[in-house]
Amino acid sequence: MFHSSVPQTAPVVDPSLCASFARQFLVGTCVGGVLPASLEVAERALLTRHFNVLTPENCMKPGPIHPAPERFDFTASDALVRFASESQMPVVGHCLCWHQQSPTWMFEAGIGRQAALSQLREHIHAVAGRYRGRILGWDVVNEAIADDGDALRDTPAAREIGADFIERAFELARDADPGAELYYNDYNIERPAKRARTLSLLRRLLASGVRVDGVGIQGHWQAGQVPFEDIRAAIDEFAALGLKVMITELDLDVVDRPDCSADIAVQRAYAPAEDVYRDGLPEPIASAQAAQYARLFQLFGERPGAVTRVSFWGLHDGRSWLNTWPGKRTNHPLLFDRAGRPKAAFHAVLASIGGTP
Ligand code: G3I
Repeated sequence: MFHSSVPQTAPVVDPSLCASFARQFLVGTCVGGVLPASLEVAERALLTRHFNVLTPENCMKPGPIHPAPERFDFTASDALVRFASESQMPVVGHCLCWHQQSPTWMFEAGIGRQAALSQLREHIHAVAGRYRGRILGWDVVNEAIADDGDALRDTPAAREIGADFIERAFELARDADPGAELYYNDYNIERPAKRARTLSLLRRLLASGVRVDGVGIQGHWQAGQVPFEDIRAAIDEFAALGLKVMITELDLDVVDRPDCSADIAVQRAYAPAEDVYRDGLPEPIASAQAAQYARLFQLFGERPGAVTRVSFWGLHDGRSWLNTWPGKRTNHPLLFDRAGRPKAAFHAVLASIGGTP
């Protein structure tokens, strides 16, 4: 299915985004569907030219890859790993344990700790084991920290296994693929309260000898409300634990949305009048977004070696989840427009290398 009006021959844009940041950090993105067919020829060229690490947007999540206890679907994930290896792009597995897009049978209420643990073991061993030695790192646990109040989010895994399901998941992933890096991934963990809860979880894991190699700050931020100081503090505090820090799902939403989370469960309908940029992104909004992206990339490079990867959540504006969440709207959150052309944000990010955007 053709997602957007990408011309068959995308204009060659020099310099390459990932090559420009090669001395600082990897630059990646997520892709959906069954590669290579799920992308147009020009989109594949855009992908391999500007990005040097790949994340599956959906196909490696528990639900899509393990829909029933005895049934796995590796079609899209095998295709992605094959495409990535042919394109010399490392892959970040996303994700082994999450409360969303997870099959109900895995942590069904009442099955008890042992049954839930053995199903998690079987899942992680089957999925991480299948790609052993071919994955740079895994988002082992995604979004387990509560948005407010409690330490942990109330999830089926936490209820059925207990609060130590996180430790167990990391141990299982380590055994299934000892060579893969292991990450904790979440949104809004740059914000002071959720950051404090994340730091105490990470300290607990590290103190109990669980191997955690990195932490992923998703980065689903809203243009005009980017928490720069919180991001700087988060990078410093997570790096101070000896962990690699990654920006894992970066996008800058330009259409107003109700709350600042990235919780897919939040839904909201947009009236046609609220779909304010359906005819395109006005120049003043585009340049404001560009300035914020440039400032972000400067911040990511401020502490050499701390940030090891910056991955966007979508190849171009037409492929962004923010066109359907929290409701249907026309969004422009990334560096390339729906025709694969570099936006003001792309040029500002490149100009940010060397200090002055
Ligand atoms: O595959 C089914 C298809 O068979 C069905 O016809 C269609 C219609 O409902 O749904 C398809 O599944 C959709 C799936 O994306 C694949 O397109 C799900 O409904 C839809 O909910 C799912 O959305 C994904 C979302 O995670 C689900 O949680 C988004 O594409 C994906 O961008 C988003 O990514 C998450 C990260 O994994 C974690 N952090 C937040 C981020 C945004 O929510």
